[in-house]
Amino acid sequence: MVQMRKWRPLLKLDDSASQASYRKIAEGLVTAIVEGRLPPGTLLPGTREMAQLLDVNRKTVILAYEEAMTKGWLVSEPRRGTFVNAQLTAKQLPSRAQAPFAPPILAQTTAPYFAQNAQVTALNHRHDALFFDNGTSDHRLLPQAVLHRYYRNALRNSFASNTLRYGSEGTGYHLRCALAEMLRNNRGLTVNAENICLTQGTQMSLYLTASLLLKPGDVVLVERLSYPPAWEIFRRLGAQLVTVDIDEEGCRTDQIDRLCREHKVRMIYLTPHHQFPTTVSLHAARRQQLLALAALHDFCIIEEDYDHEFHFSGRPYLPLASDRAQRHVIYVGSLSKVLGSTFRCSYVVAPTQVVEALHSNAALMLGDADAVAQKMLADLINDGELKKHLRRVSKEYRARRETLQDCLQAAFGDRIQVREPEGGLALWVRFDDAIDVDQIVSAALDHGLVVRSGRQFSPMDQAENALRLGFASLNQEEIREATLRLAQAASPHAHKNADHH
Ligand SMILES: Cc1ncc(COP(=O)(O)O)c(C=O)c1O
Repeated sequence: MVQMRKWRPLLKLDDSASQASYRKIAEGLVTAIVEGRLPPGTLLPGTREMAQLLDVNRKTVILAYEEAMTKGWLVSEPRRGTFVNAQLTAKQLPSRAQAPFAPPILAQTTAPYFAQNAQVTALNHRHDALFFDNGTSDHRLLPQAVLHRYYRNALRNSFASNTLRYGSEGTGYHLRCALAEMLRNNRGLTVNAENICLTQGTQMSLYLTASLLLKPGDVVLVERLSYPPAWEIFRRLGAQLVTVDIDEEGCRTDQIDRLCREHKVRMIYLTPHHQFPTTVSLHAARRQQLLALAALHDFCIIEEDYDHEFHFSGRPYLPLASDRAQRHVIYVGSLSKVLGSTFRCSYVVAPTQVVEALHSNAALMLGDADAVAQKMLADLINDGELKKHLRRVSKEYRARRETLQDCLQAAFGDRIQVREPEGGLALWVRFDDAIDVDQIVSAALDHGLVVRSGRQFSPMDQAENALRLGFASLNQEEIREATLRLAQAASPHAHKNADHH
């Protein structure tokens, strides 16, 4: 309400100026109108009231209103009062017309990993651009007919039952039950639906979990190379990051022990199944040491198991969270690697009281999820369709991995070292010192190829002469072409290839 405003600051009245008071008020009114602080049609206080509010003589206000009226800024309507002229045009209100709404932004908004270089943005729109991503699946291989059928049924059943209402949580519960059963059967987790909080992606899972556990100043351990979106969250929450080295058996538990004696460590974030980005699987002995250290030093382990489904050799490790005696692991999973990144479904597995707190915080961000999609996902899991799909694509992904290995070998020979991972959808490729990976990444853009430099996975922004090359979202022909472009970018005579423009 205008009457409640503090009129002196609103009119920016300056007591020191030598102008007559009524002129100062008239000018203050006009500036406030032009700058949009008094919109057209606003009713002004009566002259007596305004005189009181501004602590001036009533005569001064009458003169000020008259001055603004003669110039067309205000209009007076008998028995109703004085208004800002509603007929003012955009031309008369230039600063209003020009100035977009710009609320002050209090926090830093762009985390470096998410800031996109203009050339990458441009390549996103080019049909011939190729992407070595972090290891995502290929949407072209999804069983479209099955998805159509399941989505249609989910839609029909959800609507026909008339059970969809705000806060009903029915389909969410079905999906939580389906996931719990999947985790019990395939990953050895002793959980039920009450231990599962659904979210719309790993990022949301990590954000919810970290914001529940961390306060500013807390120490969080992350590996020397790690998943940037995760540590960007911890930093945003005010945590202090400390890095732990990785070797061929995974994270160095001896260092964790030492760091816990130096700092009060609150949490460690890990991807033990296939370490991101190096693909190393955390060895069995290290797993036991890690769980023992968590119990000894009382820190929480966030175990992110982003691509558990894909293992190409031997039996996969069971998650740390499957250990019956452990009390310190919060497990985060996602359906994105099986079903692609469009069906946004991730989940946090934790003790029930943690899940309840996660739920109530999730509700602050996102009231209800897509109930039809949740029903579809639950049915796909319960009917074994997800498993069937996995069996089918695993063969193809394995072939793609071999193709990439062969192409890399042919293009770079002994100038690179390729880790043979036990699973996952990406290769970690080290380059010898004669090749500068940062330069390749930048030159690759000129060849229509996007690939992330190893440095981007370093929380401390240290150079890393390696690349993570996701192979699953490219078919074999695309893999060959992408490797060719990579080799061209690495050649000392690399030049822009006109064919790709
Ligand atoms: C380590 C890791 N976690 C999570 C994700 C993304 O998962 P979501 O789609 O559930 O956000 C990715 C995607 O590449 C990833 O590499």
